[in-house]
Amino acid sequence: MHGKSILLIIGGGIAAYKSLELIRRLSERGVKTRAILTKAGAEFVTPLSVSSLAGEKVFSDLFSLTDEAEMGHIELSRSADLVVVAPATADLMGKLAGGLANDLASTALLATDKPILMAPAMNVRMWESPSVRRSVEQLKKDGVLFVGPNDGEMACGEFGPGRMAEPLEIVAAIERALKIEGPLAGVRALVTAGPTREPVDPVRFLANHSSGKQGYAIADALARAGADTTLISGPVSLAPPTGVKLMRVTTAREMLAACESALPADVLVMAAAVADWRPDIAANSKIKKSTDRIVPLIKLVENPDILHTLAHGPQRPRLVIGFAAETDDVVENAVAKRARKGADWIIANDVSANLDGESVMGGEKNRIHLISETGTEDWPELSKSEVGSRLALRIADKLKGAA
Ligand code: C5P
Repeated sequence: MHGKSILLIIGGGIAAYKSLELIRRLSERGVKTRAILTKAGAEFVTPLSVSSLAGEKVFSDLFSLTDEAEMGHIELSRSADLVVVAPATADLMGKLAGGLANDLASTALLATDKPILMAPAMNVRMWESPSVRRSVEQLKKDGVLFVGPNDGEMACGEFGPGRMAEPLEIVAAIERALKIEGPLAGVRALVTAGPTREPVDPVRFLANHSSGKQGYAIADALARAGADTTLISGPVSLAPPTGVKLMRVTTAREMLAACESALPADVLVMAAAVADWRPDIAANSKIKKSTDRIVPLIKLVENPDILHTLAHGPQRPRLVIGFAAETDDVVENAVAKRARKGADWIIANDVSANLDGESVMGGEKNRIHLISETGTEDWPELSKSEVGSRLALRIADKLKGAA
């Protein structure tokens, strides 16, 4: 066990409720939390719920003589390996940037000799206001670390940057700041995701329904487990996972070139739905609707098989994982695919399945079969992010066993 701990300052914002999950997630990872709840923070979460999760009393008032007798505020500010502010309000950031200290939280922030990580949360207009911009600039110059905020719909109904990062993102940032090694530390991972688009002319293309969600969830889980992760993505509308190197591509040939440029890697996860075919020539100008009603013919040529190419290439990763999206005889087809492609594992899923009224392609859930050298594992129906987390642990076990 690493034995690391944080001092969590919970500011006054609607996102304060997420700090409860943050404490729980940290304790799952063996990080101990001691908490300071600001006066405004206590309007959103109760000291009792924070102390129940943290497993010790919450500190809240600079002028509490009992608290000072138990642990002075200077000692408290240095009692952990990292100070985390979540939610970091405009008030707390402004105070630290300006050197003000008029309560326990701001005093601890000034007095600490440990690194500080802020997870801002506020209304989008506040986040964009010149004074908050100035605070953030100043804090960054002073070496304060930041996670988020993310774009999204806010509790106040407005849309834009200002939403506090999700607890798992904050956990990942804390683990990075504390240099806690995940099970995949030192492993280089290459993940592909999404569809490819094969141009017909400047305005048309051939593509498929892949949303990229499963591949993005895998890249996210690998990075959270400590892998140095590169994600090569076809066109999708997903936010890049934190801590992942993202390379955007459009066509299968661009994806192959990007994969080759990202090698060497220890593990390759080919989750992309690569187009098997492309139009032999992409017209330079838009193909016009013909007046004599002749339908233009598109001649297709085969795309390179990226998985096969990399699995047989000179820089073959130690663990090569392919996907098989099937609509029938899922396992049989996937077993044959494993041999044909030269992959170590194939993750097979039935893309015709309907999980909770959603299709696997584009939906949030997945039910997969993992086909390896030892046989087939049938996994239960899981969210795509749970599939990613489980897969990251399976990969860590496999690489450790092979090392
Ligand atoms: O042959 P099929 O397309 O069913 O194989 C699926 C697996 O092969 C996936 O892992 C996919 O990413 C990969 N693939 C590839 N290059 C292609 C076609 C598929 O790497 N041209």
